[in-house]
Amino acid sequence: AKYYAIVPAAGHGSRFGSETPKQYLPLLGRPLLYHTLAVLCACSAIDRVIVVLAPDDSWWGAFEWTSLGAKLETVRQGGATRAASVQAGLAAAATAAAGTDWVLVHDAARPCLSAAALGQLLQTLADDPVGGLLAVPVADTLKRSDQRDRVAATVPRDGLWQAQTPQVFRYGLLCDALARFADVTDEAGAMEAAGHVPRLVRGELANLKVTYPADLALAERLLATAPR
Ligand code: CTP
Ligand code: MG
Repeated sequence: AKYYAIVPAAGHGSRFGSETPKQYLPLLGRPLLYHTLAVLCACSAIDRVIVVLAPDDSWWGAFEWTSLGAKLETVRQGGATRAASVQAGLAAAATAAAGTDWVLVHDAARPCLSAAALGQLLQTLADDPVGGLLAVPVADTLKRSDQRDRVAATVPRDGLWQAQTPQVFRYGLLCDALARFADVTDEAGAMEAAGHVPRLVRGELANLKVTYPADLALAERLLATAPR
């Protein structure tokens, strides 16, 4: 079976709040997105890495990506939502065999994925009929709030995980699920809505998503101490 990686990179980073979208901000001297792509391009199991850009992206072309090798390709058809951007990537991967090939969706904004966690994910799911995702068990005590930021309840954290990416599913199943259930925040959500049961594969907290400016500083420290 082949593996197609899809990297949605068409977001505007509204919570981050910088003029340049967060995926293009400098991280150890290179665009953040470079680090995200490097671990995927270096993974021998992955055949193609499809980056989904916004149609009006003016940042991709300002950097030289060729050092990442020939697996890398772009489509400029990012949509208004993450799910729409992923669907554009799935369309670009249309040579995939529906029942056997895998698609691996990974946020552009997660530059600290380790080769070890990626390898663990692919190895764990290799014989799985559906697929799954990297995730980490919730460590903190969880509170539900009322409208005025008062505690309404403590939510037991047993069995609760934080979903990360990559999320890996059989190509045909994911295409069908996203076509039917696009109002989701991750691919697993669409798969669940379609009646599938994704597997949770324990990942690493270091595989954080850069959402706010403080996350970028943390990502830089993590990458600097665990260089790839
Ligand atoms: N993404 C995308 N197309 C969209 C929205 C998001 O390709 N319409 C991508 C982002 O570029 C990012 C990933 O999906 O790599 C995860 O999304 P998120 O962290 O929410 O990024 P943004 O949507 O850009 O940030 P925000 O929600 O703060 O605006
Ligand atoms: Mg978003």
